[in-house]
Amino acid sequence: MTPQTLLPPNLFAGRTAFITGGGSGINLGVARHFAALGAHVAICGRTQARLDDAAMQLRDLATPGGGRVLPVVADVRDPAALAAAVERTRQELGPIDVLVAGAAGNFLCPAEQLSPNGFRTVIDIDLMGSFHAARAAFDQLRERQGCLIFISAPQSFVPQAWQLHVGAAKAGVDNLMRNLAVEWGRFGIRANSIVPGPIEGTEGLRRLSSPEVDERARAAVPLRRYGTVDDIAQAAVFLASPMAAYVSGTVLLVDGGNSLVGSALWNETVKTLPLRNPVESQS
Ligand code: HXC
Ligand code: NAP
Repeated sequence: MTPQTLLPPNLFAGRTAFITGGGSGINLGVARHFAALGAHVAICGRTQARLDDAAMQLRDLATPGGGRVLPVVADVRDPAALAAAVERTRQELGPIDVLVAGAAGNFLCPAEQLSPNGFRTVIDIDLMGSFHAARAAFDQLRERQGCLIFISAPQSFVPQAWQLHVGAAKAGVDNLMRNLAVEWGRFGIRANSIVPGPIEGTEGLRRLSSPEVDERARAAVPLRRYGTVDDIAQAAVFLASPMAAYVSGTVLLVDGGNSLVGSALWNETVKTLPLRNPVESQS
């Protein structure tokens, strides 16, 4: 189904968006909105079949004569693979106007069980991957006076039990974003982060919840609902649009007010969720 939007369908005609992690979930939702607004869209991830499925959906959304879609395999931990992916994007779709760094990994793990490689893996995907993507796209973004959008998470600034690795990674992502806003502003490049709240129907929420937890967590959101993929995509197209021409260096919370209530409920209810290695005492 074509995403609902109040924006003109040709808003991003002739522009190119490159979206890491664009084969699923929130990032695919963001890709759908860019495609529906006329952009060429490149999506990258580790899994060819997933990207091909997503690309078929995106092609269905393109307006006649509108944007093209490029699924391109790259692991964001591999800077050379990302550099090749962004170069291929330039050749097939044109230079990148919008980079969305959304690839991420997560699992629940108490700090005292987390192995160095477990911690490093999430830092590598979320933080190093965001840096690699921004660095690889820089020349094209400078040419187009484009923008960067990082998909962050509330763990960046609200510590949550069993999310040490994610908190460290996403705090790094938000600070990376601020530095790039400062350093690359002189090239006309804007940089911003989006912090989604809990988003219905996503892998991220599936890994961090259960039907029992959901009921209480949903009721605790000031707006009394979980977010949708479209809620996040609307924020992304706003940040990439001329309406946000003077917005740079900001962390945009799209969470129904959820981070205002802190993590006390999370820290209590997370202990009911399954762990790979269950802890003996959870008191
Ligand atoms: C403890 C774990 C673990 C777990 C993996 N590890 N899963 N430790 N509990 N459940 C450890 C492994 O033991 C290993 O350390 C290290 O992490 C690397 O594991 P691999 O499986 O080799 O990593 P890899 O194949 O690279 O996969 C990365 C991954 C995986 C993050 C572990 O889950 C993945 O690919 N995720 C992508 C999809 C995803 O996570 N989507 C959700 C994004 S949502 P050792 O020491 O054994 O070698 C999000 C949250 C936002 O980011 C907030 C939502 C509300
Ligand atoms: P998702 O569907 O699992 O999205 C993650 C994507 O990243 C997948 O398409 C995955 O594809 C890709 N990816 C993972 N590791 C990669 C790697 N090393 N290289 C390239 N691509 C990789 O999860 P989601 O819940 O929609 O999350 C999307 C973003 O929103 C993440 O940044 C997450 O932190 C953020 N977020 C989510 C929520 C939520 O409620 N879901 C809340 C706050 C923030 P492959 O596995 O095929 O590579």
